[in-house]
Amino acid sequence: MVQPYKHEPLTDFTVEENRQAYLQALKTVEGYLGQDYPLIIGGEKLTTEEKIVSYNPANKEEVVGSVSKANKELAEKAMQAAVEAFKTWRKTKPEIRADVLFKAAAIIRRRKHEFSALMTKEAGKPWREADADTAEGIDFLEFYGRQMLVLKNGVPVQSRPNEFNRYDYIPLGVGIIISPWNFPFAIMAGTTVAAIVSGNTVLLKPASTTPIIAAKFAEVMEEAGLPKGVLNFVPGSGAEVGDYLVDHKDTRFISFTGSRDVGLRIFDRSSKISEGQLWMKRLIAEMGGKDTIVVDSEADLELAAQSIMASAFGFSGQKCSACSRAVIVEDVYDQVLNRVVELTNQIKVGEPSEQDTFMGPVIDNNAFKKIMEYVEIGKSEGKLMTGGEGDSSKGYFIKPTVFADLDPKSRIMQEEIFGPVVGFSKAKDFNEALEIANNTEYGLTGAVITKNRAHMEQAREDFHVGNLYFNRGCTGAIVGYQPFGGFNMSGTDSKAGGPDYLLLHMQGKTTSELY
Ligand code: SER
Repeated sequence: MVQPYKHEPLTDFTVEENRQAYLQALKTVEGYLGQDYPLIIGGEKLTTEEKIVSYNPANKEEVVGSVSKANKELAEKAMQAAVEAFKTWRKTKPEIRADVLFKAAAIIRRRKHEFSALMTKEAGKPWREADADTAEGIDFLEFYGRQMLVLKNGVPVQSRPNEFNRYDYIPLGVGIIISPWNFPFAIMAGTTVAAIVSGNTVLLKPASTTPIIAAKFAEVMEEAGLPKGVLNFVPGSGAEVGDYLVDHKDTRFISFTGSRDVGLRIFDRSSKISEGQLWMKRLIAEMGGKDTIVVDSEADLELAAQSIMASAFGFSGQKCSACSRAVIVEDVYDQVLNRVVELTNQIKVGEPSEQDTFMGPVIDNNAFKKIMEYVEIGKSEGKLMTGGEGDSSKGYFIKPTVFADLDPKSRIMQEEIFGPVVGFSKAKDFNEALEIANNTEYGLTGAVITKNRAHMEQAREDFHVGNLYFNRGCTGAIVGYQPFGGFNMSGTDSKAGGPDYLLLHMQGKTTSELY
């Protein structure tokens, strides 16, 4: 009997034992930095000459590890392995598939801090953020395993006398999982295992900046008993391997998390029918966000400032859910803005492996350059209140940055920056604040800080985002508690960690028998 689902608690690092365990885990990870990881195709470990090298973004001299790099030929080989494995995996009992996830969760829970510490090194995640990422990954394993047990007998439909009708969900086929670097464990593992537990086989192409944590996860899935060929690990370039697999006739679905531009490219390519293709491909896309916290005049202003600061600068603002816009009703605008600036000035930016660091680096030089360009744009569009400086001499560090008095249509208020930059706009009243909140092409998360019940209900109806939060920040959705995904250009509103997520990886089959 499987215990009811409960989310994995976050670690309390004020407890000395936990603190020591994390320091020890950092040492463990330091002990294997620089190792080389193979591709996994049909259970076979393959090493290529060409590598993807993963660097520590806080210390760009430090090589976290390298992975073999797939090309078209190897991607084709992996596709054939996945097609072959699908023949048996689709018939493997859902209970057995779910068990693999539960075992993997148990293995990772035992090595929890090691996984987190590896993300501290590979993605520059401070302790708290890395710990939350690992916990979320464990949650996905536990939650989707249980969801499969719920769906395994389909759903009841009516039958007339002498008739036996069934409605079952069957898997789709081979899926391509293209995962992001910002939740390099949670989203990578979550999207992979949702597909697998539903009876599909997959090719996992992790983000090229964080392939090592994905390689470790692939090892765990093998240890947990996943048969060969069900999960094929094929890091590679988007332009070569990504496009090849998206276009492939045997690809049945694509589960993508990443930028709007890449998502739309995949949407476009996946809609074309390749020669010999028997289906319309399905796309699950989780893309960008331009997420707003609205502060009403009747509100707990300290809560508002704390929520904006934490949602804007947690993991250096590199979350699709991050607060990158604060829209404040004019009577409380100055007060909230000044308090956010005060809180921002207290943030410790630096080496993510030090416990008291709140904000580490951004992921790489491209991100650094792009964010610093936006900082320049912000200086011309609004008033720089704090931050605005970057230093890429050792790692890619950018100070948490606040711009005030922005036109809601300005680029800082419209475009996804994916870095530690938040813009403030003033609204004359709550109605106008909601209008501004809705005026982007995205629709992922949002929050409203208010004590006014009528305003809350108004926002519940009219604030058009997939995840709307009241009197809290707009990041940190918990698997099974706040299903996560957005509207409009934020993606296909595929709700990760929600009760209908697995269904996106399956198709309904009706059988009707007369007797
Ligand atoms: N699920 C994460 C959050 O809510 C973002 O991917 O912050």
